[in-house]
Amino acid sequence: MQPLPTARVLLGVTGGIAAYKSAELVRLLVKSGREVTVIMTPAATEFVGTATFQALSGRAVYTDLWDTRPANGMAHIEASRHADVMLIAPASADCLARLVHGRSDDLLSCAALARSIPLIVCPAMNLQMWQNPATQRNVAQLHADGVTIFGPGSGEQACGEVGDGRMWEPEQIVEALEAWAQPKSLAGRRVLVTAGPTQEAIDPVRVITNHSSGKMGFALARAAAEAGAEVTLVAGPVALSTPMGIARIDVVDAAQMHRAVMERVDVCDVFIAVAAVADYRPADVAAEKIKKSGAQLTLTLVPTEDILATVAARAQAHGGRPFCVGFAAESERVEDFAAEKRRRKGVPLLIANHATSTFGAEDSAAALVDEAGITRLPRLPKLALARRLVAEIAVRLTSSADRHSSRFP
Ligand code: CTP
Repeated sequence: MQPLPTARVLLGVTGGIAAYKSAELVRLLVKSGREVTVIMTPAATEFVGTATFQALSGRAVYTDLWDTRPANGMAHIEASRHADVMLIAPASADCLARLVHGRSDDLLSCAALARSIPLIVCPAMNLQMWQNPATQRNVAQLHADGVTIFGPGSGEQACGEVGDGRMWEPEQIVEALEAWAQPKSLAGRRVLVTAGPTQEAIDPVRVITNHSSGKMGFALARAAAEAGAEVTLVAGPVALSTPMGIARIDVVDAAQMHRAVMERVDVCDVFIAVAAVADYRPADVAAEKIKKSGAQLTLTLVPTEDILATVAARAQAHGGRPFCVGFAAESERVEDFAAEKRRRKGVPLLIANHATSTFGAEDSAAALVDEAGITRLPRLPKLALARRLVAEIAVRLTSSADRHSSRFP
């Protein structure tokens, strides 16, 4: 299944103070390589001038139903013919009402009515206007009509109230647009992901840890959510924000991570172990800070529980559920060690990469190791790699379910 295209965006801007944020939205959309054509309602031009959007989009801005610039004089038809998706941000209460009723007495409503491309609206209005039953009815109707609604968010409003009705931030809208466009290959699946390092305490101020940034695990959690899965992310100590729509559980050490996973593993369809879990922890944690004495200090380390191996052994006893995916960051003989690790841990799929070039980096090259052998993937930004891996997992998940259902008819 190909992702939905969003390369050409028809952006409608309606009259609300959040219109100023749409200037940033255009900038981000253009920066991400998209072509943006802006239609503004007359009320929107009271908040931001057309020149701002023209400069940021690098294209003509349309405000008038009777604009004669398009060759056929039909701006309302032409606009959506040259776009993949129509996005209205901010969408005022009036705009939502107009869309529900199929009004066509201004350029934006008319273009929305005359389109055959998907429509996404980002509502923005005062809290009471948003909560009004009329607006809520309109939102429900738009939803029933197949319109996608992004937001609104909650927080401080221009009118001084605090609550629902804020337009999503431009970054959030772009992230949601990208998520919306991904194939829903994991729809209805529950996915559990571990990410980041663990920290094993030596004393109250010192820990044993590693260089994992958590970026790959967070990217995989995001990609799985974009693919329609219900995702729980068990994260070690990292400085990353939680991707949209994901339940995050923060843990510190390997024992906590193990517990958090085992409490949830029975209800998940896929387990992806990306975390760089410490293999050893100090046998005893000193109650007070260990003072420097000048003499040698010997720490006794004991092995931690292998979370992935434990879950994989359970899966083998439960008809292959959850489908287990491991990661192996190796510093040498990457594919040999990964193939051996896959067998040792008893997982159907292991993703291998080079530790020195992946830890903390923005992109990564990886190889898929499964029963069929090794498939090398090109070096990609971590989110792109994660989306590719999710697609690979979804295919294997379906075929593994088929195998099990044919074995146990
Ligand atoms: N893993 C785990 N629990 C552990 C150790 C590792 O779940 N206690 C998982 C990791 O999340 C990863 C996979 O096992 O998916 C491989 O981790 P890695 O550290 O490479 O494997 P080890 O078994 O620790 O092997 P080694 O360190 O000797 O290479």
